[in-house]
Amino acid sequence: MCWVFGYIGAPGKAAREVLAGLQRLEYRGYDSAGICVINPDKNLEVIKAVGKVNNLKVKTDSIDFSTYHAGIGHTRWATHGGVTEANCHPHLSQSGRFVVIHNGIIENYAELRDELIAKGYVFHSETDTEVTVHLFEDIFDGDYLSTMTKLVAKMHGAYGLVFLDRDNGNQIFGTKKGSPMVLGFGKTERYISSDYRSLIGLIDDYIILEDGDIFLVTLDNYTILSGWQDADRTRQIVGEDEKVVELGDFPNFMLKEVFEQPRVLEDVFRGRIDFSSNSLHSDTLEHIAMLGIKKVTIVASGTSYHAGLLGKYYLEELSNIPVDVVVSTEFKYKKKFVSSDELYIFVSQSGETIDTLDSLKIVKEQWGHVFGIVNVPGSAIARAAGQGLFTRAGTEVGVASTKAFVTQVACFLFLSLYLGQKNGLDYRKYREIIDSIAKLPEAISSILLSNEAIRKVAEKYANSTNFFYLGRAHELVIAMEGSLKLKELAYIHSEAYSSGELKHGSIALIDSDFPSLMINGGGILSPKNASSAEEIRARGGPVIGIIAKDDPNKQVYADVIEFDPLISELNPFLEVVILQLFAYHIANFLGRDVDKPRNLAKSVTVE
Ligand code: F6R
Repeated sequence: MCWVFGYIGAPGKAAREVLAGLQRLEYRGYDSAGICVINPDKNLEVIKAVGKVNNLKVKTDSIDFSTYHAGIGHTRWATHGGVTEANCHPHLSQSGRFVVIHNGIIENYAELRDELIAKGYVFHSETDTEVTVHLFEDIFDGDYLSTMTKLVAKMHGAYGLVFLDRDNGNQIFGTKKGSPMVLGFGKTERYISSDYRSLIGLIDDYIILEDGDIFLVTLDNYTILSGWQDADRTRQIVGEDEKVVELGDFPNFMLKEVFEQPRVLEDVFRGRIDFSSNSLHSDTLEHIAMLGIKKVTIVASGTSYHAGLLGKYYLEELSNIPVDVVVSTEFKYKKKFVSSDELYIFVSQSGETIDTLDSLKIVKEQWGHVFGIVNVPGSAIARAAGQGLFTRAGTEVGVASTKAFVTQVACFLFLSLYLGQKNGLDYRKYREIIDSIAKLPEAISSILLSNEAIRKVAEKYANSTNFFYLGRAHELVIAMEGSLKLKELAYIHSEAYSSGELKHGSIALIDSDFPSLMINGGGILSPKNASSAEEIRARGGPVIGIIAKDDPNKQVYADVIEFDPLISELNPFLEVVILQLFAYHIANFLGRDVDKPRNLAKSVTVE
């Protein structure tokens, strides 16, 4: 998505600070980028570049910014209009006095644009954003906050808008609805950003703006209006343990985050499961358990949706509660039957995914019980849910979700055990799962030791143009997640299927150039998966087995990636790591940017 960054402070620092801020935000959206800086002499410089922020940096190298003290910058994920310099933000008003950056979508932009064109305004881009700056200029009444209230009244949609005025460069002002935005306070500087983590190391404290807030920041003061009133927003201190995420010895964040999975799986259960007494601890879940929940609906998108699908298996099998899982993009517009004995769980790594957030708000408006499984504390979904489990995965920089996924699944497992122990879960099963959870970090570490073997198999198939990912039950969900990783990282078409379902049509696609991965770590369905692999082999299709070391049907597979299994309920944690590495190595082999795959963005704040 698009991301905004603003700075006001010392002369000479604006361009450097804004560019550095954009680089820290870049993983979240990266089609193109632009900055605008101003100085007290009413000079205004706008520089834009298609592609990575580095392209923009190169363009700014020869410019003397020594007098520029304020600036705004933007990384773009195209919604309206192609990836061109003209469509890059910032956008200027007709007179060149006002300048804007925007994250979101102005839904009634076409109508506003027509009105402005009729008044003589000339547009230079195809974006929805440009209307906001012309409109601001058109209705400017000499007061930034007052004009902003009028602008907000005319716009429909989602927005985080940040403006500068060339003629008075001592302030930054704007508004937000639906798009994240924080004000950051350094010792002698003020910042605006879509993500406070881009400000770690620069600020002492920050304010998370709420929907509808209109703000104006100067070096000495700030005003936030909500409606017509001054809003009293809490200034939050940046925690001492919050650090800028470094790559260390890893070549990219994706690999680093894959290798962090043993540790995050310790963190997610810390204080929640006491392995010495086999007891579970959570005041939040105790409260949920007392609600007498009879049904659960899980709402999420993408990888988080896959975590929800595994959550369904755990909740149904261990807690004996029926579960629906709905992608948030669909949930939002479908008929809902909210009842007091139903729990709605919203899953999101970023905590900002607009469809998931909107779905949550709809359920809340109908007085439903909402619960968040979120990675980012302070994010919009975490705040709106008010209760839930943090996944404790730490900042995930790689756009393809890895460590966040396993911790989401871990939260579902914990929730299912917690509700299960109150709902008749068999004690032996409970103990068996707790014992296996204790072994999880080590089991994942040993998968990571097979990285080289996984790379060899992956590279053998790297030039294939299609893949099937197959499995049953829990392992079908892992097939779906593995398939998504391959698509997003390597740009190779793949489909996930129940291995039993393939013969009902799609097996027609199988030939010697169409490999399949069979996710088959053991358990009662394992022989059935092996039979499906036989059927593919009989038609000349190579099958890569993701299998247990002692699998008796090894001979069915053209290639195998073997691992030491845990109990079948927990094998998905191990299998997904293999599939993350499989996709990673193919993508790397093909020269893809694994941290920032094309067309994607780390958090999806537009519909
Ligand atoms: C894929 C991926 C996406 C996200 C999806 C939801 O690797 O990361 O599919 O899972 O965009 O995002 P969150 O979890 O932030 O709500």
